[in-house]
Formats: sequence, C-alpha cells, structure tokens
Amino acid sequence: MRNRAKTTHDSAAVFVVVAITLLLAGCGRGASALNPQGPNAAHIADLWWLLLGMGGVVFVGVMIFLLFALFRRRREGHATNSMLKGSRIVLYGGIVMPSVVLLTVFGFTLVTLNALSMPEIPEEDTVHIVGHQWWWEVRYPHQQIITANEIHIPAGRPVRVVLSSDDVIHSFWVPELHGKLDLVPGQTNEFWIEADEPGVYYGACAEFCGVQHAKMALLVIAEPREQYAAWLEAQRQPAPAPADALALRGQQVFLGSTCIYCHTVAGTQATGTLGPDLTHLAGRRTLASVTVPNNRGNLGGWIVDPQHVKPGTLMPPTPLTGGDLQALLAYLETLE
Ligand code: CUA
Repeated sequence: MRNRAKTTHDSAAVFVVVAITLLLAGCGRGASALNPQGPNAAHIADLWWLLLGMGGVVFVGVMIFLLFALFRRRREGHATNSMLKGSRIVLYGGIVMPSVVLLTVFGFTLVTLNALSMPEIPEEDTVHIVGHQWWWEVRYPHQQIITANEIHIPAGRPVRVVLSSDDVIHSFWVPELHGKLDLVPGQTNEFWIEADEPGVYYGACAEFCGVQHAKMALLVIAEPREQYAAWLEAQRQPAPAPADALALRGQQVFLGSTCIYCHTVAGTQATGTLGPDLTHLAGRRTLASVTVPNNRGNLGGWIVDPQHVKPGTLMPPTPLTGGDLQALLAYLETLE
C-alpha cells in the first residue's frame, strides 16, 4: 500500500516537473508574450514578470508562516502572549504588506499604461483592420490599398492600428508585439504596434467568434524601410493584364464565375467585397487566414472544396472542369 502511494506521488512529481519544463520551454520562443519583439510587448512582459515575482515572494512567505504555525502547534507550553503577537501579525501581514504589494503593482501598471499610450504617428503609418468571419481585411487608407490577413509594417517605426468589425466581436492579438484589443461592430478601437526588427510575427483572433475562430490567424510582416515602401508601391498597382493564352482563359473563367460577387481584382469587372481582395493574391504567403501555405495545390483545393480546408467557411465551392481550374490557377498566379 505504502509503495503504491509512493509511486503515485512520484508520478505526480514527474508530471509537475515535465509540465513546468514544457511551459518554460514554450515561453522562451515562438509567438509568446514572454518573447517580446517590440516596445509594447516588452513593457507588458516586464509587468508580467514583476507580478510573477511579487506573487512568488508572497506565496513563499505565506508557506513559511504556515509551516511555522504547524510546527509550533506541536510544541508544548507555547505562546503565553499570543494575543499580542496575533495583533502584530494582523497589522503587518494584513495591512502593511498588502498595501506595499498593491501600491507597487498599481504604480508599475500606471507606468506601463503610460508607456503604451499612443505616440505621435504620421497619418500614412495607419492600418485599418476589419474583422470578418473568419479573416482580416487590411486597409491602408492613406495609400488606398486593401489586402487581407498579412499586415506589412515598417520595422522600427510605430504604426497606428485601427480596429473594427463587420459582423461579431473578434480580438486582434500578436503576442510578440502587443496585448489583445477587440474588434467591435459599430465602433473603432485603436492602439499602436512596433516591431524592433524585420521579421514575421504570428497573430491570432483571441475572442471566440464562431466555428472557424481557430483558423482566423494573421501575419505581421515587418520590413526594412525601402522594402516596405516598395511593397506599398507594388500594392497600389492594379492587376497586370494576362500575358499568355492560358492566363487569359483563366481570367475569362474567373470573370465568368461567381467569384466576382465576393472578390475584387482591381482593373477588372470583379468588384465584390464580401471576401478578400485578390488583386495581389499571389504575393501572399498563406491562404484562408494562415490556414495553408499559398501554393498551386492548396489554392486549387481551396477553390474547389473550401469546406475541406476550413469547415464552416463562408466561401462556397466552385465546381470547375480540370482545364478551367488549371487556367484559373495560372491566372491567379499572375496576381502578384
Ligand atoms: Cu475572430 Cu475569433
């Protein structure tokens, strides 16, 4: 009996050690709020560590008092003046210490809030993000650019992010750059993000918004200044005219299909706005809000059977013959 209890105890200990190791390993890298890559996330992470540290000290202190009390009760002839000692413990442990802890946390929270407040940001560094079930519309109002799911920003420069929603409440969260902020129908919320270095930062919707909430991810792509300017310039251009016969046939397939009721390709009759703007589709890394990499196979599968890729998606299937599909894919690949 005793051995079995010991074994259970040991397994529990191993489980706790493994869980803590995994947690800490996960904290160090990847899209973690504890791996800050910009000033906002760094301030939030500092506050988090402060809370953890103070919480840890209080926890250890309480445990020491608990053990002390347990130990003392066993001794005989204890404490004749326990009333006096008791009131001192209430004074220090119940009033002085909580006041110090809470005031310190309050002070650091105010410092953090102040650091996160909106700095002076030029008008052209504004990105307007509209939440949809289940994708992100990304607008650069100053540059008249509309794209989706992949947000290009200049590295090392603050960018104003304006958030709203077209349907239900979503939440914008790029853990390495900032905390969460909701996208609420009928109002706009705004904050700012900044990435210290060029890189790709993973983000996700952080508010349950329906069946495909889990597949509503996004990428923030921070680029050096010149590269970002070049990207903006390229995005401003309308789609190029198809250069070969196959792509031309693909364009006819596209314009003759139901695609155009939901999607826009600038420079053509396709002006739908229910789904993502496809003018520069081929330049994106992923499809369906970072659900699959953007390549020919995935794009074909997505067009023919979107429910297979993202069950519940509002995109209907588009039945096409093999030849038409190949032509359509050849056309879509020209939309860089
Ligand atoms: Cu959008 Cu969850």
